[in-house]
Amino acid sequence: MSTALVTGASDGIGLEFCKILAGRGYNLILVSRREALLHQISSDLSTEHGIQCTVIAADLAKPKAAQKLFEATQQKGLQVDFLINNAGLLHNGFFTELDLKAQETMMTVNMLALTSLTHLYANDMTARNSGHILNVASLAAWAPLPNQNIYAATKAFVLSFTQALHNELKAADTGVTATALCPGYTDTRMMDNPDQGAKLTVPAGMLQSAQDVAEQGINACLKGKATVIPGISNRMTAWITHLFPKMTLANIAGRFYRKNMA
Ligand SMILES: NC(=O)c1ccc[n+]([C@@H]2O[C@H](COP(=O)([O-])OP(=O)(O)OC[C@H]3O[C@@H](n4cnc5c(N)ncnc54)[C@H](OP(=O)(O)O)[C@@H]3O)[C@@H](O)[C@H]2O)c1
Repeated sequence: MSTALVTGASDGIGLEFCKILAGRGYNLILVSRREALLHQISSDLSTEHGIQCTVIAADLAKPKAAQKLFEATQQKGLQVDFLINNAGLLHNGFFTELDLKAQETMMTVNMLALTSLTHLYANDMTARNSGHILNVASLAAWAPLPNQNIYAATKAFVLSFTQALHNELKAADTGVTATALCPGYTDTRMMDNPDQGAKLTVPAGMLQSAQDVAEQGINACLKGKATVIPGISNRMTAWITHLFPKMTLANIAGRFYRKNMA
């Protein structure tokens, strides 16, 4: 039986990754901060699907969090066949008005922890000549986004890093795949979490289900794709970004975000 490690397993898209993988017979390592909730999910999924779940509570914003998580899985003798770097934070608002510490935390979780975990587990995977890595970026990665400024920049990092890594792993014939998942607006707590500054209101028709997004991410990763953008309209949006200069995109996005953020 293969084992998947999912960060941000307690909610939203991460929880859907866990449900889908449990249904496909994967053992799971569930990672996030809310330990009690992870134990509840672990108990539900192992009872329903007869899989083994391991809970490792971790705050990925803490120094050396990725190294400690890696060591914890080593100590428990757990081999990670599928790594899903999903945990992420969003802060909406005008750059200078947002709390600097909160922005630093977002950069740490969205980029540093993801990169360190990828490095640690990719080393193990390449030594075994097999493994899958799914890094959750965003449609926000494709253009500069005023009022989601740093968030979009962190996701541009994840997209660029993962696409280049995909090429490296393939060219070296490692048997390991890396995929960037770029969801558009997805119906999770992230869309109206009061901790993340201003609320962005988007028409309900623009929201995808977390289950759809997770399913498409897993399938693309198992097929060894470099990038996956769930939904035709999101794929068209990403394609359109190639037709305009970055500052034109920033001006269009700035108008949309200022109008729809409160
Ligand atoms: N929702 C969207 O519209 C959307 C669109 C594009 C991309 N995404 C990306 O999709 C991913 C999942 O987002 P979501 O929409 O599912 O959000 P969510 O429902 O808010 O879930 C976020 C998850 O990340 C975990 N997390 C947050 N901070 C953490 C930390 N410091 N250490 C460990 N875990 C932490 C949370 O668990 P705990 O609170 O238990 O720690 C939670 O499980 C993110 O990377 C996000 O940027 C979302």
